[in-house]
Amino acid sequence: MARCKLTIKSDFGVPLNDLFGIFFEDLNHAADGGLYAEMVQNRSFEFEPVDHEGYHETYAWEINHPDQAVISSDQPLNSKNLHYLAVKSGAEDLTVTNRGFNQGMFVQEDHTYLFSMFASAKEKGMVQVFLENSQHQQLSPTAVIAVDVPGWKKYQVVIKANQDSIEGRLVVKILPNSHLNLDMISLFPTDTFHHRENGVRRDLGEALAAMHPKFMRFPGGCLVHDGTLDPNDRESMYRWKNTIGPVEKRPTRRNKWGYNQTLGLGYYEYFQLAEDLGAKPLPVLPGGHDPHHKRAVPIDQLQPWIDDALDLIEFANGDTDTKWGKKRAELGHPKPFGLEYLAIGNEEVGQAFFDRYPYFHKAIRERYPNIKLINTSGPFASGSEFDRGWKSAKENGSDFVDEHYYMSTDWFLANQHRYDHYDPKGPKAFLGEYASKENKWYNAVVEASYMTGLERNADKVGLACYAPLLANVDYIDWDPVLIFLNQHQIAPTVNYYVQQLFMTYQGTHNVQYSIDGLSDPVVKDDQPITGQFGFEGDLAEVTYNNVTFTDRKSGNQQDFNGGQLLERKRQLIGQTDSDDYTLSFDATKTGGRPDKGFHLIFGQASDPDYFMWVLGGWENQDSIIKQRGAHGMESDWDQCQWTMESDHQYHFDIHVHDRQITTSIDGHQFNEIEIMPTVIQPLYSNMTFDEKIKSYYLKLVNVTDKPVTILLKDTHFQNGQYRELSADPETENKIGESNNLKINKTTVDGSSIRVQPYSVNVLISK
Ligand code: AHR
Repeated sequence: MARCKLTIKSDFGVPLNDLFGIFFEDLNHAADGGLYAEMVQNRSFEFEPVDHEGYHETYAWEINHPDQAVISSDQPLNSKNLHYLAVKSGAEDLTVTNRGFNQGMFVQEDHTYLFSMFASAKEKGMVQVFLENSQHQQLSPTAVIAVDVPGWKKYQVVIKANQDSIEGRLVVKILPNSHLNLDMISLFPTDTFHHRENGVRRDLGEALAAMHPKFMRFPGGCLVHDGTLDPNDRESMYRWKNTIGPVEKRPTRRNKWGYNQTLGLGYYEYFQLAEDLGAKPLPVLPGGHDPHHKRAVPIDQLQPWIDDALDLIEFANGDTDTKWGKKRAELGHPKPFGLEYLAIGNEEVGQAFFDRYPYFHKAIRERYPNIKLINTSGPFASGSEFDRGWKSAKENGSDFVDEHYYMSTDWFLANQHRYDHYDPKGPKAFLGEYASKENKWYNAVVEASYMTGLERNADKVGLACYAPLLANVDYIDWDPVLIFLNQHQIAPTVNYYVQQLFMTYQGTHNVQYSIDGLSDPVVKDDQPITGQFGFEGDLAEVTYNNVTFTDRKSGNQQDFNGGQLLERKRQLIGQTDSDDYTLSFDATKTGGRPDKGFHLIFGQASDPDYFMWVLGGWENQDSIIKQRGAHGMESDWDQCQWTMESDHQYHFDIHVHDRQITTSIDGHQFNEIEIMPTVIQPLYSNMTFDEKIKSYYLKLVNVTDKPVTILLKDTHFQNGQYRELSADPETENKIGESNNLKINKTTVDGSSIRVQPYSVNVLISK
């Protein structure tokens, strides 16, 4: 076993500032049915099939006499909340029961719940409210509400549960001969995180706070910019002004992720949450551009969008005598929220966004020169859109560029030195979304290894957050995530614990040090890209022909028959072991899915273990060089914007030289990328110092199955504290199970430590 010596060289390196934070987006029912503590689903009877197939206005409600309850919009609560339940009971009780999310509401004995509703009496009405379980056993005493005024009025009562249930229901019983209108029927635990009204779940809030994030990016993600230009549309882009003020006056929204979004968790609540977490708020505003649907506000109509940005800064930071600062104070927070960061756009691709960004940038800089502005560089780690974002950031003087990538563990290991070559004088990278593709311990350890590189390059990477954060296990749109949840449980994933460790022990500055005696890295994959090649359909109808393979070393050429593609079936046509070759072909799209194209397969060693040139990927907007590794995980190495028009014959060339890939379409160069080999270091590490508490932290990450011993003699870590996370590489945390990760908190015993296989560690100086 290697025994290596640690030497500390100089106390101060570059500052880490707000390096590690979190990113919250309402996907996977992360807000409604997740973090947002509202227990009623569809509280305002606004669910519609446009939000989600199968939704309707009484979705999640059960009504015992449906003929006595209708959805009406004749006398709405307000113009943003059109639908309500009009009930007219007969000689019997009429019960209206909500089942909440998942299998039901989580009700706990002796806990109190705040029931509220808006009601108006057409004649008169008595309402009883209580909790029950799915077997109709009552879980709380009955509260009685007399609805006695004709106009809309808010009624509230606190209900105390006398039994536990994970299948709780809220029952609103309308007594005989009542004639009422009901809306905004709501139930919240009174014990929310930091006891905020309209707040977030305590267990989730505490789990987030326990990470000690330096910042919180919100509210998305694609959620922000996928939408229409009109803020009054149900599916408009995420416009922050729609999300503040009384919850009953916030419009209902079709969430991009395929469900209804109440906006109950809105900008005020996000700012409040960030403050409660001790994290700096980092909002993302739409830049008047939706790359998903190629919508862009005309430049001469951009002002309201720019005003949204300026007003948001005033809302967060302005004095209480300013218009928006006053609004903040009226909502209950006279003190400014201390906004420092603001992102315009998310994963933007195409010139249209970058034509608009400068207008935002200039207006914000002029009025608020201290706000740090974040530009975007698309959803890929390399390629035309990535370059376009960085070019714009440099030209405009953005402070940060938001980079996003979701890649395989091999990609992260191959790209450990990505940021070593960034310019410390240029805009800093904000790694606003990243994750390796699974929630297994091996993924988490590899992410930890990558995070040591982020720390080491803190002069070039200013901010970084894993994505996404939360997923309700019964409504998953996107995983892996940091925390799985249902109504009564949460399961922090093994990846969560890595993030938590790095945030808790981030430190304020890097420290110069060396570890001598480590064995050489293992290079897993440095062979030329050779193997089988062919075509694969992707649901568009494509004809290919004039296929030629040229071995550029020998000059030999081989021609292949053409063919047709539609289904996702692979047609392998040839094989090579040359390290320098070109594949040329023509292809025409004749029908099938308009948002799709086809794939060229190459470098296939086995299945899965191959490369793809994805033509017409992501909504038919991309030319991507994708790798599907032996483990099945995919990485998009390089992306350029390209759309495959129908009925046009294109000529394609791909040139593979060793591990260098270049592509061209109709003679114009597109992708250019070197597929870096997977290099596995025996140990990944970084040392920081925390000025506030005068502590040194040494992170040690072992992604291998071999232990490493580090001699700590004459260093700050001798007899210091020691945190160790370890597990079998396949280990995962699942909802309902206890934590499968071994978490060891101990003191360094003597003058060396053994870094266990597959472990993430931090040593804390004495
Ligand atoms: O984090 C999930 C999604 O991934 C985000 O909404 C988007 O920005 C990215 O494509």
